[in-house]
Amino acid sequence: MSQSIPEIQLNDGLTIPALGFGTYRLNGNRGASAVQSAIDSGYRLIDTAYNYENEATVGEGIRRSSIPRNELRITSKLPGRYHEYDKAVTAIQESLFRAQLDYYDLYLIHWPNPKEDLYVEAWQALIDAQKWGLIRSIGVCNFLPEHLDRLEQETGIKPSMNQVELHPFFNQEEQRAYHQEKQIQTQSWSPLARVQNILDNEVIQSVADHYDKTVS
Ligand SMILES: NC(=O)c1ccc[n+]([C@@H]2O[C@H](COP(=O)([O-])OP(=O)(O)OC[C@H]3O[C@@H](n4cnc5c(N)ncnc54)[C@H](OP(=O)(O)O)[C@@H]3O)[C@@H](O)[C@H]2O)c1
Repeated sequence: MSQSIPEIQLNDGLTIPALGFGTYRLNGNRGASAVQSAIDSGYRLIDTAYNYENEATVGEGIRRSSIPRNELRITSKLPGRYHEYDKAVTAIQESLFRAQLDYYDLYLIHWPNPKEDLYVEAWQALIDAQKWGLIRSIGVCNFLPEHLDRLEQETGIKPSMNQVELHPFFNQEEQRAYHQEKQIQTQSWSPLARVQNILDNEVIQSVADHYDKTVS
């Protein structure tokens, strides 16, 4: 399966598979088995977050799998409550300790929390953690163009990706065009719209039939 997943190169040079395995709500022994079997089935990009309380589960699944660490791409995310610089640095270290990993391939700010207005401080912590070798590529989730602009204006460094809600019922055309202009990779969360109404949608079914694929 891994050979059939195309690779994408991010603006900092890191390559990632175009398709990844989300781990929200995968916890404990069953979660670790799910992560292990996803990797052994061909997934190489695994998406976790501090807030999913399953970074340890993901780390365990990685160790149980048959694939060397350097062939995997592991993402985690910084919670909104840790945007202050010192708290962000500690949270990144804590994320690594939980997973028992030496580094994350990707670390993303989970939400901009614009009312608190500390996301540039959090971004500076990610920039420094990348310099220290704790993270290979730094990005964000759920950032609007105005938030992305501020990161670049105030630190000179733009994210490698923005993970946003994106599926056939919410196609984010303007946001995606903005990412393309700025060479920021778009990554979709809830790509199946949590399956609400998608599996029996007639239009999507006809597209799937045309390409001889399943709806998912
Ligand atoms: N950055 C963010 O703010 C953010 C927010 C939400 C999610 N995420 C990430 O995105 C990942 C995916 O999002 P999501 O879980 O919300 O939504 P999703 O991928 O749109 O939907 C997941 C649901 O689809 C079902 N499903 C998957 N493949 C299927 C298939 N072939 N046929 C039928 N049903 C299928 C799953 O069922 P089963 O449960 O039976 O497998 C699960 O109920 C999360 O795990 C997380 O890593 C990030």
